[in-house]
Amino acid sequence: MKCTSAVLVVLVALVATSLVIALHAQVQERPIPRIVKKDGRFALFVDDAPYLMLGAQVHNSSTWPATLSKVWAAMEYLNVNTVEMPIYWEQFEPRQGQYDYTTIDTVLEQARQHHLRLVLLWFGTWKNGSQHYMPEWMKLAPDRYPHMVDKNGQAVDSPSPYAAASLEADKNAFTAFMRHLKTADPERSVIMVQVENEAGTWGTLRDYSSTAQKLFEAPVPREVLNAMHVKTTSPSPSWLEAFGSEAEVCFHAWSVAKYVGQVAAAGRAVYPLPLYANAALRDPLKPGAPGSYESGGPTDNVLAIWKVVAPALDILAPDIYQNDPAAYLKVLELYHRDDNPLFVPETGGAANVRFFFSALGLQAIGFSPFGMDYTRSRMDYMRSGSEAGTPPPRDEFLAPWAMNYRLIGPMQREIAELNFEGKLKAVAEEPPKVTETLPFGDWNAVVSYGATRNGQAVGNAEPTGRALVARLTDNQFLVTGFFCRVDFRPAGTEQQRRSQRIVDGTGQIPSALIDGKWQHRQFLRVEEGTYENGVFNFVRIWNGDETDWGLNFGAEPVVLRVSLATY
Ligand code: DGJ
Repeated sequence: MKCTSAVLVVLVALVATSLVIALHAQVQERPIPRIVKKDGRFALFVDDAPYLMLGAQVHNSSTWPATLSKVWAAMEYLNVNTVEMPIYWEQFEPRQGQYDYTTIDTVLEQARQHHLRLVLLWFGTWKNGSQHYMPEWMKLAPDRYPHMVDKNGQAVDSPSPYAAASLEADKNAFTAFMRHLKTADPERSVIMVQVENEAGTWGTLRDYSSTAQKLFEAPVPREVLNAMHVKTTSPSPSWLEAFGSEAEVCFHAWSVAKYVGQVAAAGRAVYPLPLYANAALRDPLKPGAPGSYESGGPTDNVLAIWKVVAPALDILAPDIYQNDPAAYLKVLELYHRDDNPLFVPETGGAANVRFFFSALGLQAIGFSPFGMDYTRSRMDYMRSGSEAGTPPPRDEFLAPWAMNYRLIGPMQREIAELNFEGKLKAVAEEPPKVTETLPFGDWNAVVSYGATRNGQAVGNAEPTGRALVARLTDNQFLVTGFFCRVDFRPAGTEQQRRSQRIVDGTGQIPSALIDGKWQHRQFLRVEEGTYENGVFNFVRIWNGDETDWGLNFGAEPVVLRVSLATY
């Protein structure tokens, strides 16, 4: 009798195992997402083709089975294709070495059901400069997993980047997390992983423990000197000799980057998904002295240090909450480098919605406003100034962002491909500029804001204008945007361009004097349509009032395919 039940158990186990294997075999393993560089431009390849991440990041405490429904509903409203969600170390490893995959598996399953991709954020050793997501068993053992100490020897609310046990624990946990993703996600729902969150330290420039002090007084590693192009008389300068007033910030960046780089490398070794680290920024135009911004993170002044010390990170990405348009655009420029694809993992502020287009103009692989779900985080109340009062309308924060994604969503793959091929330009309104020229070889696209029917452009009352133009063939363009006018002018050669008489944004036929002869723009065919599965579906032809003063875009999502000629 005993023997029969044992046989039965073995049989059941065998059947169950073969079922699991069969199920796995049914899910076709897709290619691992990767960053690709061609002709100086980057793309994020997902399913082996350029992918534009129309993203949104949830509130910090929203990745719990009980809150997920409030995430998916918001994502549907926003029309995103990717959700950025934290994974909490404290939840993942409640007891040392025991990993709890339930939340990750729930997120994977529900993301698939909602046809969404994921960027998972590893809230590990650092979260906004602190160690708040370390599991309890670490928090309760500060001698083993130490905090940094300030100049007075007091513990600060930031983990030590020299703590070998913390590094080991984070590497182990992150590796377990990545290993699990590798087996649990053959569909590649997860397309990228953020390592830590805004690593660095607030309130003190660096660690002042004896370990840190010894390192600070030692010579700067040669690779750092080279990366930062430091020239000193001393062949092996100290941090102070090499970097003067920025010495402590550079030293802390090196320390933090080294730690994060090792966590990233360990995870990447088991599953090579694209990895990135995000930065709490310093003011890009008027950077204050060290101490006025988070120290040690990948701020613009230490990007080269992070690049050389943490090569396992594909991207260093800015969290942009700047309200000054010039500062916002400067950040985009600073993080769009030959060694760094532009990716905006967090941003905010309704006035900044238009900069999604500026990011596209710099070949951004993705863009993601922060705090986009219906959980009613305390932050919502603070932002709306009604902390104690009634909650703001549910979609107040989401609506402006949704507008961008509803327009670009149906042609996301085309946009990603055109951008990777270098055929796309996109801009946003930057007062006091009211018109802008986008050069496309023989044609210039001229974008203007606040242009009346046949008058000069004066700028929109609120700077909400944004435009995107992509060259499909020599004389055919994809044109779209909001609150702007787009027209085209024959460009001529460089020499001719300099001697042209040009009046833009007036509603006159844009013309150029080329080889002594006036050439005038002529619309052959302006087609309104929509993209679906890579095909442009014709809706109607624009002519007459719709084209006589250029191509005007308002609040509606409109896409035009424009064929041009001259006469
Ligand atoms: C930036 C952080 O990276 C986010 O996790 C979040 O704390 C926001 N700041 C808050 O607005």
